Amino acid sequence: MPEVKVNLGKSSYEIHIGSEILARSGPIIKELGVGSNMAIIITNPTVKDLYGVTLAQSLNQTGFKVRILTVPDGEAHKTLETAGRLYQELTKSHAERVTPVLALGGGVIGDLAGFVAATYLRGMPLIQIPTTLLAQVDSSIGGKVAVDHGQLKNMVGTFYQPKAVLADTSTLKTLPDKELKNGLAEVIKYAIIYNHGFLDFLENNLDSIKALDERALAEIVLRSAKIKAEVVAQDELDLGLRHILNYGHTVGHAIEATSDFNIAHGQAIAIGMVAAARIANKLGIMNSQTSLRIKKIITRAGLPTKLPDIDTASIIQAMSHDKKIAQGKIKLVLPKSPGNVFITDEVSLSLIKEVLQQEA
Ligand code: NAD
Ligand code: GLY
Repeated sequence: MPEVKVNLGKSSYEIHIGSEILARSGPIIKELGVGSNMAIIITNPTVKDLYGVTLAQSLNQTGFKVRILTVPDGEAHKTLETAGRLYQELTKSHAERVTPVLALGGGVIGDLAGFVAATYLRGMPLIQIPTTLLAQVDSSIGGKVAVDHGQLKNMVGTFYQPKAVLADTSTLKTLPDKELKNGLAEVIKYAIIYNHGFLDFLENNLDSIKALDERALAEIVLRSAKIKAEVVAQDELDLGLRHILNYGHTVGHAIEATSDFNIAHGQAIAIGMVAAARIANKLGIMNSQTSLRIKKIITRAGLPTKLPDIDTASIIQAMSHDKKIAQGKIKLVLPKSPGNVFITDEVSLSLIKEVLQQEA
């Protein structure tokens, strides 16, 4: 079973990637040496119905008593209020500082359960068990945990690294098409920002990936996890290099917010990645052929490349709101060529607007 190490000194951990890992999770967790015979699974009803029993059985067989805590499905529940309810449940369950918390689900569960594990009793061992493509390639790795607050996403949170990540690629077989595409947008992002060979691989294997071929899925999870692990190991606290993971996200976040989150994250960053490629091309940093190559892989993945009916001015306004957070400048990640990007805050709003209005 392939493993990827996230090298963070004493906080280092392994990402286990492969088929049917859930059924083998008990022994892996036992080997981490957690000092408790109880394990808490935090999940939602959708994922619990699909995978709760397999995970709980493996834990039981390894000698863990299991308590499953569920929260309703959806981003709307990634809140302090839900965290508060989970704290109460942990108290009722007599959870201790050594009791492992297992986040079983997509990024919403990973962020929420991670936040709860980081804060209850000043920190409990956290194991991320991601079941969406997005969570396997991105959110379960790197220790960002958070809840939303007011209208703002991920406003209250911290860095809290898991003890392990168990990415069972068989779980991706039940993923709705929309969620697969959301994750694929992040996978394409890695290929563009970090690794030229990965982009070739995606171009050659996209049809198998879309058909949920498990070998192809395991390969993209492995390659993406390696890239994320390398970036996080160099910049755990997101002070420099880690910003490259935001390729497509500056424009993407503004599109999501302007659409009241009706446009999915993956779709929004897909448009953002194409916009950034076009900006790079117009600035003479990247050739037209590469810009078209980026647009083509995004289209083939079934993701949009241009803005639906949203007023460009609203997008620019939403980015200007983010700008306040970034000391008055809009930061963009621009690609020079596949595997080679840089960060700049010198792109004019008018150029961003121009590429967003571009027709084809
Ligand atoms: P999600 O967690 O909402 O999951 C999407 C849907 O898929 C849900 O309805 C879920 O119940 C369902 N689902 C999960 N696994 C399934 C499976 N195997 N089969 C069928 N259905 C399944 O969405 P997501 O895209 O995984 O995560 C989005 C969240 O991740 C956002 O809150 C975002 O802020 C966060 N995020 C965090 C980081 C980070 O570094 N911490 C990075 C990126 C995104
Ligand atoms: N998802 C971006 C990061 O983890 O930094």
